[in-house]
Amino acid sequence: MPETPTVTKLNVRRAAGYIGAYVDGVDLKADLDDATIEQLRQALYTHKVLFFRDQHLDHAAHVAFGERFGPLAVRAREQDTEELIPFPQILTISPQLDRKLVGADYEAVFRSKWVTSISGWHVDASQVVNPPAIAFLRADEIPPFGGDTHWTNLVAAYQGLSEPIRKMIDGLQAEHTFWPAQQLDPSNPVEKKAIDMIGNKRMAVHPVVRVHPETGEKALFVNPSRTARIMGMNPVESRKLLDLLFEELTRPQYTVRFTWEPGSVAVWDNRCTAHLAAADIDHIEGAVRIMHRTSTVGDIPVGPDGFTSYAVAGEPLIEPSADNGAPADSSPRETR
Ligand code: SIN
Repeated sequence: MPETPTVTKLNVRRAAGYIGAYVDGVDLKADLDDATIEQLRQALYTHKVLFFRDQHLDHAAHVAFGERFGPLAVRAREQDTEELIPFPQILTISPQLDRKLVGADYEAVFRSKWVTSISGWHVDASQVVNPPAIAFLRADEIPPFGGDTHWTNLVAAYQGLSEPIRKMIDGLQAEHTFWPAQQLDPSNPVEKKAIDMIGNKRMAVHPVVRVHPETGEKALFVNPSRTARIMGMNPVESRKLLDLLFEELTRPQYTVRFTWEPGSVAVWDNRCTAHLAAADIDHIEGAVRIMHRTSTVGDIPVGPDGFTSYAVAGEPLIEPSADNGAPADSSPRETR
């Protein structure tokens, strides 16, 4: 006899004024019924990021839960430790793994090269024509302090702009690549290795304002980490407008900060949020922070005027298939 799926009554508590909610009363390892998944989906559309404690998912349960929301993307960088080989959907983010694979913590190298104090804010893989729609990040090992993550609400940021600015940006497009946030120096051997490891040549043009395909909300779809320039503007105009938009979307009032514990899970809507890893433990010798992420393959963004994103370079995100159990493209990575 098949087991009866678990019907769940969710307890959803807001975490901050514009974004985020804690969800209790659900075991993400359980065989959740469709109604519970729908409740979670609706809570996600309302709050943009959901936080769960004490879930302790293993890789298989992490993948199974994410797949309830759509096909998961194949991870975008080499990291096949024995235990990850069967799970091409899982991307592990950890200084220890970086050191094991490439001999240095390249996440820390990237963060040390951020060009401004807000450079780390990003939308996952916005350099791809179909950035992930929903992301699922779980904490495996967490240091005793530090290592928090912040999210910001890009719908609130759009609404916070004045009407004339909103009108102007509704019809604009911007180019996204992996590189705008860092200034790495290829003549420095460590930085050169980091550049080669990332090697990300993907580039896409997206609307500056994205209409959410499920809610119809308009979200400001630029981010300090990946958005290189506004199309059709001269460099000075583009820089000034982007700076204005970045300042708006990183306003503290639109954000929420989550302190991880082992077993915590965060689920966010990558179509209408940006996020930032606090990067406050890079200098702490021996700090262990091991996170695992899956993401659903995203749709192609559409602007208020109907403009549809296009790829300038590189492949779209893809879901796993029989012949792509390992990363299909050895170069791109999009953790940050
Ligand atoms: C984090 O490690 O806190 C964030 C991971 C991500 O950028 O997706």
